[in-house]
Amino acid sequence: MKQTATAARIAETAEFPGYVRHAKLKAWVREIAQLTKPDDIYWCDGSQREYDRLCDEMVRAGTLIRLNPAKRPHSFLARSDPDDVARMEDRTFVCSRTQEHAGPNNNWVAPAEMKATLNKLFDGCMRGRTLYVIPFSMGPIGSHIAHIGIEITDSPYVAINMRIMTRMGRKVLDVLGADGLFVPCVHSVGMPLAPGQKDIGWPSNKSDKWIVHFPEEKSIWSFGSGYGGNALLGKKCFALRIASVMAREQGWFAEHKLILGIESPEGRKDYVAAAFPSACGKTNLAMLVPPAAMQGWKITTVGEDIAWIKPGKDGRLYAINPESGYFGVAPGTSTESNPNAMATLHENVIFTNVALTPDGDVWWEGMTKTPPAKLVDWQGREWTPGCGRNAAHPNARFTVAASQCPSLDPEWENPDGVPLSAFLYGGRRSEGVPLVYESFNWDSGVYAGATMGSETTAATTGKVGVVRRDPMAMLPFCGYHLGDYFNHWLQMAGRLNDPPRIFSVNWFRLSRDGKFLWPGFGENMRVLRWVIERCRGQANALQTPVGWMPRFEDLDWRGLENFSRGQFAELMSLDTALWQKELREHDALFEKLRRRLPRKLELEREMLGLSFS
Ligand code: OXD
Ligand code: MN
Repeated sequence: MKQTATAARIAETAEFPGYVRHAKLKAWVREIAQLTKPDDIYWCDGSQREYDRLCDEMVRAGTLIRLNPAKRPHSFLARSDPDDVARMEDRTFVCSRTQEHAGPNNNWVAPAEMKATLNKLFDGCMRGRTLYVIPFSMGPIGSHIAHIGIEITDSPYVAINMRIMTRMGRKVLDVLGADGLFVPCVHSVGMPLAPGQKDIGWPSNKSDKWIVHFPEEKSIWSFGSGYGGNALLGKKCFALRIASVMAREQGWFAEHKLILGIESPEGRKDYVAAAFPSACGKTNLAMLVPPAAMQGWKITTVGEDIAWIKPGKDGRLYAINPESGYFGVAPGTSTESNPNAMATLHENVIFTNVALTPDGDVWWEGMTKTPPAKLVDWQGREWTPGCGRNAAHPNARFTVAASQCPSLDPEWENPDGVPLSAFLYGGRRSEGVPLVYESFNWDSGVYAGATMGSETTAATTGKVGVVRRDPMAMLPFCGYHLGDYFNHWLQMAGRLNDPPRIFSVNWFRLSRDGKFLWPGFGENMRVLRWVIERCRGQANALQTPVGWMPRFEDLDWRGLENFSRGQFAELMSLDTALWQKELREHDALFEKLRRRLPRKLELEREMLGLSFS
């Protein structure tokens, strides 16, 4: 009783900083505090001092371990609860007015019913904790492509991660002013503390986790998890699920795409946005280092996960990266696979669920060929090579500011975005799908993106080699019916004078004896060169049933001279039986979306059927 009275008083009387001028925002914060009953309310200003103080507090509380400053300056390691290690698609809900709006691609509960559930869950859920108010901008502050959110959370770990991943703090409230629009995001780890109860390093709710979106009112509620996309609500929840709904309403795109710049030796640059499902090396592509033999070609990084894309006055599409940091998967990242990422991780990093070395640095599978002789694993247990366990969790992450990336594009914060010349769609496909092809036109490109699939890996599902259809890599992230999403893509063509060309790529095709046919990594530059030269009208191609493909002589082979014509032919081959099987899988996807599937995509399917009959 006493606690409830105190909490009510805090909600009603807590002093808010004088610079908070937005009456509706203040009322909303008080309303959430009334419900969640925290011990204190704190407005994040986004300063370095605040960040350092929160980190110090978390070191004292056992949430963070400070890494050796000589090895990894200003960096920390967090270890999550072993049950709270990844996004949870089965606990993620899009509660639109009707189930039809959410589509078969989303879990749905009627909004009123969900609100009743959330009200019970959030009632008193912040007892014994501080409520942090985090104002954040997705996109450069003040950009006409950017949008503002306010996250309320009881996790200081979320607050420090949001400071890296978004533009966060007082400067956002200055732009929001007295009556600007914001997306309200409420997050709780779902573990209130009784009076005198000692906290634990990674509080979460063992039995109940909910990640909920209300697309009509554009709000987000997340309960029970402190991890990544479940808790850093600016990322997947806002920048994809809610923003995809806003984009459809307002005539733009919110996409699960990296953005990179490709500069040719004479200094001309084009930008490309590329969608790949999880576990396809998106970060590696975004930070690619071209082979030394391709002198003068350069890749620059605008973003590695999300792109917001709007038509410009000139009828081209312009993209921004709404994030300001990388929340990347650590395992597999090395100086060989991604030297730019390794350089980015030099200092000022929050690592989560990686292993700790005896000298206070970090390690993960794939970082070096030979693992250290001794480690402490991601759960704090002693680890030696051959002990049969992973040292780092396969979904272990780093959080780091984009500004530390050596390949960062100088235009990455341009408020108008960068103009796009091409879209790329790719997946992990061991058979059938060639290294690269260009779709004939916008509609056939939308078809290729809509039907893309990727094989699952042990790290993602525990099952290997099952093709999961993941349209435009948006399956877990589109906040409405995928059929409507395809329609939106098709219709946007009418607003563009100069739409980007659309390409499909596959770095993962295997030979008959099970070896990768394509070396991948930096060698992907050869494909990017062809892509950009197609856009510039400088490269030749061969017409095939699926689109335009490079012939052997159309690619730059300098430095890879031992790659034979025979290997290339195998890599590019279109096998009729495999494509018939592929098309049956497209049919299965379309069947699920039938009620809202655009007729244009059915026509594309019919034409492909004729080509492979
Ligand atoms: C991610 C994902 O976490 O795509 O970025 O799964
Ligand atoms: Mn992603």
